[in-house]
Amino acid sequence: VNGTELKDFLHISDFDKATILKILDRAAEVKALLKSGDRTFLPFKGKTMAMIFAKPSMRTRVSFETGFFLLGGHAIYLGPDDIQMGKREETRDVARVLSRYNDVIMARVFAHQDILDLAKYSTVPVINGLTDFNHPCQIMADALTIIEHIGQLEGTKVVYVGDGNNIVHSWLLMASVIPFHFVCACPKGFEPDAKTVEMARQAGISKIEITNDPKEAVRGADVVYSDVWASMGQKEEAAQRRKLFEGFQVDEDLMKLAGPNAYFMHCLPAERGVEVTDGVIEAPNSIVFPQAENRMHAQNAIMLHVLGL
Ligand code: CP
Ligand code: NVA
Repeated sequence: VNGTELKDFLHISDFDKATILKILDRAAEVKALLKSGDRTFLPFKGKTMAMIFAKPSMRTRVSFETGFFLLGGHAIYLGPDDIQMGKREETRDVARVLSRYNDVIMARVFAHQDILDLAKYSTVPVINGLTDFNHPCQIMADALTIIEHIGQLEGTKVVYVGDGNNIVHSWLLMASVIPFHFVCACPKGFEPDAKTVEMARQAGISKIEITNDPKEAVRGADVVYSDVWASMGQKEEAAQRRKLFEGFQVDEDLMKLAGPNAYFMHCLPAERGVEVTDGVIEAPNSIVFPQAENRMHAQNAIMLHVLGL
């Protein structure tokens, strides 16, 4: 796929390797500029962004709103009770109305079909801020963080331990574009979507392993990655999942197996003492806060790309 003519940012695999690397380069460049205190780069001046949230958020909301503002634009937060997309009003109507006010739409929704419908009916770019299926902005920020700490994503071993969820799907889609070794260690019955695994393997770019053995999986990892066991929309399953996910907590022993050079990453929010111990998240090789910061920088570059700036 050639990423250059696409208006939306919905899946990492919609773009080719050159485009993904270009966006990541741009992220680093604009990050350096913002870090230097320079506030003269205002490409979004006179532009507005509508941000639709059907689910809660800290990072996505604050990083998009702050990033868009720092580069000259104005972002409008629409919380779960505001427009009630699909309930108060049909998604296709929301898309067409917001397209007439705003230059770009960012949305966090439940059903993946909702973001596809938004993009279909919107005449302005739509950016995926997480669905039940994937979370591309997160994995772009993760890639940026890995590049900063290891030098490149290409050729690294990234081992995800936990639920085969939206984060895993975006890692799989990244693995269909950039060559690295991706392992997902999850309990039986919590594997990622089989079609997405197949698609990523068919791409023939990366080594992809799905396993139920976290101890074996983490050996030689450059990154051990974890996420909550019960995602947004699954919180009533949390207690049951805690039992079923026994043995999948990233603790000091598991990090020891990974080796002294392995970094720990987590998209946050984290439940300390559940999927990860406090000790692991607070350890010197935990890069969860640079990772969270990079949400803003990766997204700034994504917004520049979809707006053709
Ligand atoms: N990682 C992430 O998307 O965090 P929020 O849910 O706080 O936006
Ligand atoms: N898998 C988590 C990610 C949160 C950023 C969720 O969907 O809730």
